[in-house]
Amino acid sequence: MPLSLRTSISWCSHRVPLRQTSLPSNVVVHPLHAPTTTAIERKYHFSSLSMIMRHKHSRSQSSTIWLERQRKDPYVAMAQDQGLPSRSYFKLQEINELHYPALRSKANEKRKIGKSNNHTKNETSPKCKTLIQPSFLVLDLGAAPGGWSLYASTQLQHHLGGAVVAVDLISLDESLHSINSSTVISSKIRANLQSNFHFIQGDFTKSETHTRIMDAFAEVSSGKESSTIVNGECDVLSCRRPNLVLSDMAANFTGDSLTDAIRTLNLCEEALTFATGGNCFDPSYSSTHDRGGGVLEDGGAFLCKYFACGKDHEADLMNATKRAFRYVHAIKPSASRKESSEMYLLALDYNCK
Ligand SMILES: C[S@@+](CC[C@H](N)C(=O)[O-])C[C@H]1O[C@@H](n2cnc3c(N)ncnc32)[C@H](O)[C@@H]1O
Repeated sequence: MPLSLRTSISWCSHRVPLRQTSLPSNVVVHPLHAPTTTAIERKYHFSSLSMIMRHKHSRSQSSTIWLERQRKDPYVAMAQDQGLPSRSYFKLQEINELHYPALRSKANEKRKIGKSNNHTKNETSPKCKTLIQPSFLVLDLGAAPGGWSLYASTQLQHHLGGAVVAVDLISLDESLHSINSSTVISSKIRANLQSNFHFIQGDFTKSETHTRIMDAFAEVSSGKESSTIVNGECDVLSCRRPNLVLSDMAANFTGDSLTDAIRTLNLCEEALTFATGGNCFDPSYSSTHDRGGGVLEDGGAFLCKYFACGKDHEADLMNATKRAFRYVHAIKPSASRKESSEMYLLALDYNCK
């Protein structure tokens, strides 16, 4: 992505063009992914990994393998037993309760050794045992069918200002019907959070979705300060900023793992750009840089899903994240299938002016 694009991004109108990747010639589009299919069908088959698009002549075999894997997967069984929308619930739970404290205690050790006291002013308290704090405003990108939003909502407290703004191409409840769940997920999350849950159905790569997210931030009550909408747009200074930006977005699978991984990396870069303003993609970035229109609260955290595809492809995302955050760690939760290249990048203590 040209640097000029990243640096000219403004608060409400982030628009980072996706890299154009063409499909390999041996990939066929599954009929269920044709434009006439419903969002439910697309969602169901999207989450079925290789079932969306696949190499010629391998359909029945890959379907059988997938179904067999689902049947044997203990996290799928647990999610079904507990009426959860997805097994992803357990990944965020594990990162929140296990990986975060481990990373935080390593960071505290480093701080003691370096005797460094220069924390960012709002950084999550080094004593915090979990990533998600009860008063947090959480932005959940790629939220459907709702596992992460649901888990986050259980960690937040409405009376302390805890709130979730969730975004997906498809609606949470619609996607759940596809897996025959009787739970209506948005009301379950609302029950945890009362009114502090906003779901936006839209494409995160579109600037109008960014504007809707900003409107939702303005509407979310913090209990501390009021937000203002000026000329239909959120006033930057009075808007509440998210403390945590999550991205579990994944590009539609093409059957070519490198293409899929690069497209998902692009979504991560868009999420990071929205969070930080994108200046961190500039190699000369330092923490004294202006936040450049990013939404993330000073000291906030960023967590995104990517598919491992080699250092060269991942370098832009990794380096930018390392410039903008004090601590960055790649995580493979045990709830993530071993055979999948899926990884999570956890970045703590956003450092901005
Ligand atoms: C693996 S699923 C997310 C699972 C979810 N975090 C959960 O806990 O249930 C990936 C989601 O990313 C969404 N997605 C992909 N591209 C997107 C985009 N450009 N804008 C919004 N959502 C997107 C897909 O619709 C899909 O629902």
